[in-house]
Amino acid sequence: MARKLWQKNYSIDSYLESFTVSNDYILDQDLVLSDLFASKAHAMGLGRIGILSPSELESISRGLKEIADLKKDGKFEISIHDEDCHTAIEGYLTEKYGECGKKIHTGRSRNDQVHTALRLFMREALVKVRDSSLSLSESLISFAKANTDVPMPGRTHMQKAMPSSVALWALSFAEEILDTLSYSAALYDLLDQSPLGSAASYGVPLPLDREYTASLMGFGKVQNNVLYANNSRGRFEAMLLDFFSYLALTISKISQDLMIFTLPELGYFTLPKELTTGSSIMPQKKNPDGLELARSRTALILSLSERVKSIIKCLPSGYNRDFQDTKEPLIEGYKVTMELVNITEHMVSGLEVNEDKLIEGCTSELYATDRVMEKVLSGGNFRDSYLSVGLNLDDVEKDNDPVASLKKRKSTGCAGNLNTGYADALLSALRKDNDSKAEWLKKHYEALLGIDELIT
Ligand code: ARG
Repeated sequence: MARKLWQKNYSIDSYLESFTVSNDYILDQDLVLSDLFASKAHAMGLGRIGILSPSELESISRGLKEIADLKKDGKFEISIHDEDCHTAIEGYLTEKYGECGKKIHTGRSRNDQVHTALRLFMREALVKVRDSSLSLSESLISFAKANTDVPMPGRTHMQKAMPSSVALWALSFAEEILDTLSYSAALYDLLDQSPLGSAASYGVPLPLDREYTASLMGFGKVQNNVLYANNSRGRFEAMLLDFFSYLALTISKISQDLMIFTLPELGYFTLPKELTTGSSIMPQKKNPDGLELARSRTALILSLSERVKSIIKCLPSGYNRDFQDTKEPLIEGYKVTMELVNITEHMVSGLEVNEDKLIEGCTSELYATDRVMEKVLSGGNFRDSYLSVGLNLDDVEKDNDPVASLKKRKSTGCAGNLNTGYADALLSALRKDNDSKAEWLKKHYEALLGIDELIT
């Protein structure tokens, strides 16, 4: 049986062991590479202050690389008796390299160890979700460009309101996603701080060089106050999940719109049959299950962020084991968000546009406000013009040329002046920034551990 890091002269009650460890040792498979990377930085820090000799550091480095290779082949095992990946990693080093394995935990607590691994996981998760979201935004922009002048009824309260276009609809989501990504810039800066060296919550009386280990891991800075570093566990997770939830809310709205627009009765768009599912009893059915589940998994993401906040809301300062339960919502939130963004991109790319149905949908009532504006332009005041059109709605005629009608909407961002360059410019600036961050992370992973990424 694995020896616990806190093992003394008694064994834990097995019922309490399985309750406290729960599924944490399984979840920790997703943190192994992050922990190895942070452990390498920590070991180099110990070498710098003479706690590990150069040859001990070399043995530890070799051991960490071996574990990374085992992990790559799906062969690094963590058992319930290990409790977590941290114990399993130290256990491997001690078993294989003896004495130096027993030194790796000097000046470190599992509290800052797991916190650092999670921080690294979150920093990369943010970069990866942003990358996929940029692709989704790009697909929406391409969809808009391919359908620039295709009219579409604009709706409020779900009722027909005014003439709109397919491009206006698609670009609204592209811009929404890009703004959400811009909003995450401050979040990246928060995640780009190293908690390593905060130990159990109060630091240690050793001259640990926190700046050095932070720079080895490519962190922009050290998270200064060690107690705050500990207390930020759960908070940053919740902030990241909140960011995911804003993306999910956009995806839920896209999905809801598409469920309506692909209704056979409207037929504005069609989902190819490969992007629908069938019924076990009704042979004709082509159901938009992908869209429905994207909508329901949005609820899941919202709940995960709430779950983390509920766990941390009453915690006193310093480490508390409750933090462990914020790990599952974080990892699940990341995985589900990636799926949501990718499936939505997939469905948007497969959408078929039925221009005839869209034009057919642009019936006369959509033009009531246009008729009011025409009266205003010929000198009438708005309120009287509104009333005269409103009292004679049967006389409202639709424009024969719906495209020309769209072109009359010339103010910035309207269907006649979509200003697509705005989204293009924002997309390429965000892409450049995110790519350079991804490059930066990769460079550090390679230098320390010879790997490309922590989340595989
Ligand atoms: N699994 C634990 C967590 O995620 C690891 C840290 C345990 N620390 C402790 N003091 N019991 O928080």
